[in-house]
Amino acid sequence: MGSQTGRSEGAGKGTDAAREWSAYQFEIYLDGVAGTVPRMPTDLTRLEEMAAERLAPGPVGYVAASAGNGRTVTANRAALDRWQIVPRMLRDVGKRDLAVELLGVSLPAPLALAPVGVLSIVHPEAEPAAARAAAAQGVPYILSSVSSTPMEQVATEMGDAERWFQLYWGRDREVTLSFLRRAKASGFSALFVTLDTPMLSWRPRDLDQGFLPFLRGVGTANHFSDPAFRAGLARPVHEDLNAAVLHFLGMFSDPGKTWADLAFLREHWEGPIVLKGILHPDDARQAADAGMDGVVVSNHGGRQVNGAIGAADALPDVVAAVGDRLAVLFDSGIRTGDDVFKALALGARAVLLGRPYVYGLGLDGQAGVEHVIRALLNEFDLTLALSGHTSAARLTPDALSRSV
Ligand SMILES: Cc1cc2nc3c(=O)[nH]c(=O)nc-3n(C[C@H](O)[C@H](O)[C@H](O)COP(=O)(O)O)c2cc1C
Repeated sequence: MGSQTGRSEGAGKGTDAAREWSAYQFEIYLDGVAGTVPRMPTDLTRLEEMAAERLAPGPVGYVAASAGNGRTVTANRAALDRWQIVPRMLRDVGKRDLAVELLGVSLPAPLALAPVGVLSIVHPEAEPAAARAAAAQGVPYILSSVSSTPMEQVATEMGDAERWFQLYWGRDREVTLSFLRRAKASGFSALFVTLDTPMLSWRPRDLDQGFLPFLRGVGTANHFSDPAFRAGLARPVHEDLNAAVLHFLGMFSDPGKTWADLAFLREHWEGPIVLKGILHPDDARQAADAGMDGVVVSNHGGRQVNGAIGAADALPDVVAAVGDRLAVLFDSGIRTGDDVFKALALGARAVLLGRPYVYGLGLDGQAGVEHVIRALLNEFDLTLALSGHTSAARLTPDALSRSV
């Protein structure tokens, strides 16, 4: 990819301070002078369409899939689109600062890659490629519990770059404890506990294709490599894949959990804990009362409850309820730089990027993910500047107007 390869500044935390997010557009224009144009669209909303043309229907369907008839995906977009930026003029925007403080670390931009499982269905290099891209750009990578690559291997690929672990909180305490131990030993510094998936929802696009990667043993790498998980198998995974898959399906999540159970995680995880999938201010208050460190306002990209509230519609009430006690993050519908701007102006400390980076991975591996990160953040930086603002951390709702 003419404008995208060979420009990574190397994994690690040391490269972040002087990062110029606005450089990417000039690299692209200069490549244009040399006769090369980007291989992937710079309008990131076009990625899904391109992925649908180039990747197999099962995997594309799985990534694009929503619960039911997709009403919540539509609601996520509508909730962001209801807000409009009101640009201000003559405010010296020559220097901008995209850095934010989050969960005890300083990040070069208010962005992390969302946990997305089973990435090997879109690209053979899977999570390691996405993690390397995140590391190269100084953006935290959140590894899914149901990754296609064991967490230790992903950690090795990332050097000392910032990484967080997402937990699907299963039924088996020993396996959960083992995951927490392994994640800590592998340098994952924060735990993201996803609460909105105690079971898989009704997903017609996957159902119509009969496509569920886990049944083929994909997305089970952390479990299959886990000593506590393996201790529950009569025969090794390679001798009886079906039994291992069934064992996985029986434990990967747990609809019986309640707020009281959080004490267990608090006791066994020393670092920050963030609850992902919060949409009601009372749930956010309970998270704070339970000693959590943050919440992600998210409806899982519309993949769980069809007809659920658009995530950005839920954001202001959650921020009002706990913004002074918890780090409030946001995902579900982030596609462009102005979406990042709006989420931050509504009170999110940072956003998680989901489907767009997965399409980037599917289309062009690590380089594709780096393209998506750089395009998004360059566009966000420009949105900030052109609207009269200079600091990602200091955006407020005053920057927005709501259309009915
Ligand atoms: C294919 C796919 C797999 C996902 N897997 C996980 C997962 O393993 N754990 C998790 O917490 N969220 C998972 N999510 C949800 C994302 O973390 C994030 O909440 C969602 O993608 C945000 O919506 P958006 O991509 O439409 O912006 C997944 C999303 C997609 C699209």
